[in-house]
Formats: sequence, structure tokens, C-alpha cells
Amino acid sequence: MIQPARNDSVALLDRDMARKNLSGYWRLGMEGLPPDPMTSVEPCLWKWADVRESLVRAGELISLENSERRVARLVNPGLDQKYAFSSHTIQISFQYVKPGENARAHRHTPAALRFVVEGNGAYTTVNGQQCVMEPGDLILTPKLTWHDHSNDSSEPMLWLDGLDFPLVQALHQVMQERYSERRQPIEKSSEEVMNKLDRSIRHGLPLADFFHYKWRDTEPALRALTNSAAARNRFDGYLLEFRNPLTGGPTMTTIQCAIQLLPAKDETEAHRHTSTVIYHAFRGEGTTEIGEQRFDWEQGDSFVVPLWYKHRHLNRSSSNDAILFSMSDAPALKALDLYREEER
Ligand SMILES: [Fe+2]
Ligand SMILES: [Fe+2]
Repeated sequence: MIQPARNDSVALLDRDMARKNLSGYWRLGMEGLPPDPMTSVEPCLWKWADVRESLVRAGELISLENSERRVARLVNPGLDQKYAFSSHTIQISFQYVKPGENARAHRHTPAALRFVVEGNGAYTTVNGQQCVMEPGDLILTPKLTWHDHSNDSSEPMLWLDGLDFPLVQALHQVMQERYSERRQPIEKSSEEVMNKLDRSIRHGLPLADFFHYKWRDTEPALRALTNSAAARNRFDGYLLEFRNPLTGGPTMTTIQCAIQLLPAKDETEAHRHTSTVIYHAFRGEGTTEIGEQRFDWEQGDSFVVPLWYKHRHLNRSSSNDAILFSMSDAPALKALDLYREEER
């Protein structure tokens, strides 16, 4: 039987346990676990003018021979600055590729997506599929798909990069592999795949991977929604989710992308959810209230709504629609049975 020393103390016990890689639960005190989920991710807005200016300067200073990508990462002040993450699950960055440049082919475990902001005619090749990039296009490079970006056009290209990098990092699963050549060979175009999509679904045929949502398809579908008042969601206005066309499931395993339209002067109601959402103002100007703070945004700005913060959106214009692109980690939370939402 163990006899406690006469002069034993909690401090001594804690110290001795620490030397044996042990820790007493009593060190947490009586407060217990919080009644609501808590995050150190802070509501934050990044101005487009700052992002763009940084990238254009980097265009003069950083070559794609010396850096795998010319990317500006949007950093959340509430997180460990070592990682330069935008949230604890989803990363938002912007990438700049000048005419004649190529960002070399590689693949990695973090899943990524591109939402095109500026320029025309560059392309991303995904597993041999050429996706020509135009503003408003959404291009997916899911986990471990080969991808490279080439700008053979005469204008610079700027696009949003979204990744589940922080989540994959938290799971200690990050890896990257380079392709044997700088560019992968192009086997087909995303247009060919899109043309076969309807037929494939109708006949239950296996479809080549689908990676490319064109703005010329997205915009009319979004505008068509506004013809029906019943289609308006009171928390998000008119919202379209980018679904996997074959499964009807989320855009990617870990990220749900959406595009939403707020008509002139529209104001949504407040709610909150356990998912974190990063927004990019594609068109228009507005305000999003997050917790007790107000964030005024205009075209090109990006902002994050951390989990469980109540939030609502307002279109500040009396004449123009506002359009927001968004990325949410809801699919990951739903897979873990941790998704919850409530009205405020
Ligand atoms: Fe990549
Ligand atoms: Fe929301």
C-alpha cells in the first residue's frame, strides 16, 4: 500500500506527475466545460485594396521559380500567427499569375478550390482536364488531384483560393507531391465534361470527374431564384449551393460553397451555427453584423463569420444587388454530428 508522505501537497503531486507525463484533472478547477462552443477565431474583414496591392507588389518581387505559388494568405488575428490561417478549418488566400507564367503541377491532401475574381483566359488543369478561368467561375481541385495554373493570356489573373488546410493540418495529414513535369498534359477540356454531364446522369453512366462550375451557368440560376419570393431564405437571402452533380452532396467532402444574392436594401435575420463561414464580396456593397461588431464590405473584400457568432447581412445599396461567394466547413461538422444552428 502506498503511504502518502507526511509533508505531501498538491503542488508536489502535480510536479511529480508532470515528470511522468501525467496531469491531474483537478488542475482544471470546478469550471468544467463551456455551455456553448468557443473559438479563438475572431470576426475579421480583409480589404480587397490591401490584398491586391500586396499581390501586385509581390508580382515584381516574387518569381514562380522561387516560390511554389504567388499567394497572399488572409490571416486571422485570433489564431497562432505561425500558421497564417484564416480560421481553424478553412483557409482563404488570393493568387496572382502574370501573363506567360505557370504555377507548377503538384497535388496535396488539403482540398482546394478557386473562385475567379479578375482576368480572363488563364486556365487550371486538374487531373488532365483544362478549366479555362473566367470571373465568377468555381474550379475544384479535390484532395490529391494534380493541378497547375497557366496564364497564356495577355492579362494578369487573380483568384480566390479556398482550402481545408487548417483542418487537414489539425489532423496531421498534410502532404504534397510534385508532378514529374512542370505542366501536366491536357487530355480534355472541362467544357467537354460539362457537355456529357446531363447525359451521363440520365443514363447512370460513370462520369469523368467534375471540377468546373461556370459563372455563365451560375448567374442565371441565381437570378432565376429571385423570381420566387418563396425561394428567399430569411438568413441568407437568395442562396444557391454548389452541389456535387452526381451525388447531390456538398461541393467537397469538407467544404460547402455557395453564392447568395441580397437584393437592394435587403436585410436578413440573425442566426448562428456551429459551422464557420468565409465570405467574399463578388458584387455590390453591404454590411454584415457579427456578434456585436459591424463589418462594412464592398466588392472584393472578404470576411469570416466564426462559429456560433450570431450574424446577419444587409445590402447597403438602394439600387444594386449584392452577391456573396462563401465557403463553409459545415460538411465536416455534419460528418462528425457536430452541426447545430439556431435563430437569434
Ligand atoms: Fe496546390
Ligand atoms: Fe449563417
